[in-house]
Amino acid sequence: MFKSFVNKFFVIYAVLTLIIFIILTTTLTNIIESFFINNQKKNLINVGQTISDEYISAYYNQSKMSAVNFEYQIDIISSHIGSRIWILSGDGVVLIDSIKGIDSFAKTKIENPSINKALNGEIVTLKGDFYDLSSTPLITVIVPIKINNKTKGLIVMHSPYPAIKKTANYFFNLTIICLLFSLCFSIMLTYIFSRRVTKTFQQMNKTAKSIANGNFENRIIINSHDEIGELATNLNFMAAELGKLEEMRRSFIANISHDFRSPLTSIKGFVQAILDGTIPKENQDKYLKIVLDESDRLTNLTNEILLLTKLENNGVLLNYSEFDIHLVIREVLIKFEQKINDKKIHITLLMDEKQIMVYADKDKIERVIYNIIDNAVKFCNKGDRITIETTKIKDKINISIKDTGPGINKEDIKYIFNRFHKSDKSRGEDKKGTGLGLSIVKEIITSHNETINVNSQENKGTEFVFTLAMVNKKN
Ligand SMILES: Nc1ncnc2c1ncn2[C@@H]1O[C@H](COP(=O)(O)OP(=O)(O)OP(=O)(O)O)[C@@H](O)[C@H]1O
Ligand SMILES: [Mg+2]
Repeated sequence: MFKSFVNKFFVIYAVLTLIIFIILTTTLTNIIESFFINNQKKNLINVGQTISDEYISAYYNQSKMSAVNFEYQIDIISSHIGSRIWILSGDGVVLIDSIKGIDSFAKTKIENPSINKALNGEIVTLKGDFYDLSSTPLITVIVPIKINNKTKGLIVMHSPYPAIKKTANYFFNLTIICLLFSLCFSIMLTYIFSRRVTKTFQQMNKTAKSIANGNFENRIIINSHDEIGELATNLNFMAAELGKLEEMRRSFIANISHDFRSPLTSIKGFVQAILDGTIPKENQDKYLKIVLDESDRLTNLTNEILLLTKLENNGVLLNYSEFDIHLVIREVLIKFEQKINDKKIHITLLMDEKQIMVYADKDKIERVIYNIIDNAVKFCNKGDRITIETTKIKDKINISIKDTGPGINKEDIKYIFNRFHKSDKSRGEDKKGTGLGLSIVKEIITSHNETINVNSQENKGTEFVFTLAMVNKKN
């Protein structure tokens, strides 16, 4: 049971709630009890003060009330407030006791420190036993009868504690019932919540396991927007991304085997034909040249994969130097002269200054420009235009290579710099490539701590813009 996080959470919550409940109950018992005791004491003091006034008018102002009448009144008050009342003389002798008969304390002298304290003029309140009067605890309140600041007697009231406790208990029980209800309700809510969380966790677990087994189709149903919901969303996103990666990996293996197989097949075919004499001696050179070209293609492909792996693992050290970026652009363009002429592509160079010196790895930057121009030339249709523009922005130079070719659709743009990504799934004869060119470009530019962006619109064209650090002439 405790293996599950949610069960642990539920048990901890229930135990905590129970502890809080116990603490609350004990504190409440004390608060409610002392509230009622204090209330009773206050009531008794008030009653005592009224009796004191009556006493004075009965014994010192005979015209208003007789002593008999006073005693009768004490009996009525005593039964009304449910407390035993004594009236004590100034020397501590009980003059009147509301209890009559053999239990009466009338004429008894009460020797007690609290009585002495009250005789000194103080109101005294006590809780517990008083003079062995009762087997149950009492609340005793002693109010002095004062005339001209002299204590003439005492009013002693004993209220049985169980009566107070009964009222306190009533309120206490009411509170406990409310608390119990809220406890059950909160435990129920926690249970429902933890069940829901368990379900989501179980689903996440299932999805994670199926991802581990290579199945990226499973998704978690998300019904909350909290941290758990966020985790589930991320897991779904991860599954989707891994799915795409897996799809890319599969298509790469298919593509790469195709890319390796076709040159290998032609190499094998031509070599075999030369060996068995199918190709006459005078034609051998021509076919051996094709064999050489195909082996070069294989070598290039292998080198590109190796370079990319090295770049991705930060294994290539950049060989920084100062060079003219305009010169490099022109040199690269010359390499494409034949293809540009074949396709009747218009080239526009917007490079105001004769030379702009940059600080970077020359060979790698040449590779970047080559790969971008290679794409532009490769994907452009006959008569399209390629514009190359350089713009200085503070200590950087922006290099833009723009074409009026077919453009890239929005979905593909997100993956364009990924390894082996090719939007041209058909792999037409003049558009063959491994899909490594732009990932190499991206790796080189980021390893220079520079940025590269692509803007493209289908049927309008594509623009690649990257930055390089300029050489500060003042330095
Ligand atoms: N200028 C462009 N116009 C249209 N599509 C482009 C352009 N540049 C790149 N793309 C798209 O991006 C994909 C990835 O380009 P990338 O250079 O990485 O690979 P590739 O050119 O297919 O192969 P490689 O460069 O390795 O020979 C291309 O297959 C193409 O679909
Ligand atoms: Mg390319």
